[in-house]
Amino acid sequence: MAVIVVVDDEPLQRDILKTILDDDGHETHSAASGEEALDTTKKFHPDVILTDLRMEGMDGVELMEHAKAENPALTFIVMTAHGSVGSAVEAMKKGAFDYLQKPLEKDKLLITVRRAIQHAELLKENRHLHKELFDRFSMEGIAGKSQGMREALGIMKKVSNSPATVLIAGESGTGKELIARAIHYNSLRRTKPFIALNCSAIPENLFESELFGYEPGAFTGASTRKIGLFEAANHGTLFLDEIGDMPLMMQSKLLRVLQDKEIRRLGGKEPIAINVRIISATNKDLEKELIRNSFREDLYYRLRVVTIQLPSLRERKEDIPELVDFFMTRYNKEFGKRIKGVHDSALRALSEYAWPGNIRQLESVIERAVILSDHENIRLDDIKSELRTSLQTDAFNLELTDEGINFEELEKALLRKAMAKSNGVVARAAKLLGMSYKTFWYRWEKINSGPSQKHPSDEQ
Ligand SMILES: Nc1ncnc2c1ncn2[C@@H]1O[C@H](COP(=O)(O)OP(=O)(O)OP(=O)(O)O)[C@@H](O)[C@H]1O
Ligand SMILES: [Mg+2]
Repeated sequence: MAVIVVVDDEPLQRDILKTILDDDGHETHSAASGEEALDTTKKFHPDVILTDLRMEGMDGVELMEHAKAENPALTFIVMTAHGSVGSAVEAMKKGAFDYLQKPLEKDKLLITVRRAIQHAELLKENRHLHKELFDRFSMEGIAGKSQGMREALGIMKKVSNSPATVLIAGESGTGKELIARAIHYNSLRRTKPFIALNCSAIPENLFESELFGYEPGAFTGASTRKIGLFEAANHGTLFLDEIGDMPLMMQSKLLRVLQDKEIRRLGGKEPIAINVRIISATNKDLEKELIRNSFREDLYYRLRVVTIQLPSLRERKEDIPELVDFFMTRYNKEFGKRIKGVHDSALRALSEYAWPGNIRQLESVIERAVILSDHENIRLDDIKSELRTSLQTDAFNLELTDEGINFEELEKALLRKAMAKSNGVVARAAKLLGMSYKTFWYRWEKINSGPSQKHPSDEQ
């Protein structure tokens, strides 16, 4: 069932249309002129308007232009006299969905109207989705009022409506992708695509075809044309995540696209103009990569015209209560729970924790607690195990960089720490590291590999 407005200056035509459409289950209103149709539209909010083209006063095209200025999603079918298809084509160029020729055939009429209704529904759904996305990635979707967060949001607001390339830097889980999306959905490009590519997830030999697409026959196996991400994101935003992992060969190609603002599909001859805003993100220190020559300096400066540095959660613990509240509300809604708050002791534990996984980790702790908790408030018991297991795995806050880790040095440091903590009592030190006395002693001797190591006196 849809709401339809029928516009025709011939009373008989209006009545026939109304009867057919009402019979098909719709709610039909008729109007005798363009002017009247505008009023009817305001009153009944139709999905589809079926209008004659040639009328006294405001004609069909004028009606369409006026009505669409108010509501661009209104779907129009225009009706034209036999032999004047030209005017119908003109109307379609101006935004009509379809046209019908008079005298109308009932079947053709019903099929066209049904298609128009479908189209109107899709448009509505699309708008609804856009609104949902917009809500999620609007400023309201970003929690935190700490100094670091306010600075980041301040830059974000300023940069949203400019075409500037933005580099977002921050540890894993600090909200880089969230900010990238928020920039897009707060920019004039918001109704155009936002496309994300994780540069660390793409094999080096697929980068080009992924970004630029290809023509049939460009290489063995390329049987059809494929549009690349640059084209798919045209007029929108391309988010290059983990840009530090982009291979050097690809970096120079990206640089060329940024300079020339055009691409060529693999195997394609014609350049294709590209208007894409690039936002990139990194959890590496790109300046270090420059020194190591694994990132191009010229590209770096192009990408970081504006830089947003996201603070780690450790550096903005004052945001924790607000974030906890934010995620509690989100997951209460999602799982139909009614958890009211967080117990003091639990909040204290959350505030004292080091959060190596930053906001993503906090979010999953709260999600889990909301699902599992049977109490009105989240208690320490509901989150303790989560915090402990992650504490253990991240106990040393180790980051395995490309430089690697010197395992022997690490072992040495650990054994010494254990020994110091247990005041030289080997049995106790061994226990701290979960080793047998013998294993510990063997390793201890090895790291101190002096020949005259005396057996400690506490041996039992
Ligand atoms: N300030 C914030 N307010 C609310 N939610 C946030 C905030 N920052 C991050 N989040 C949420 O935390 C999760 C992780 O964020 P996101 O994926 O943007 O991080 P990231 O920096 O891209 O992480 P990674 O480097 O691991 O890819 C997401 O679910 C995001 O919605
Ligand atoms: Mg990310």
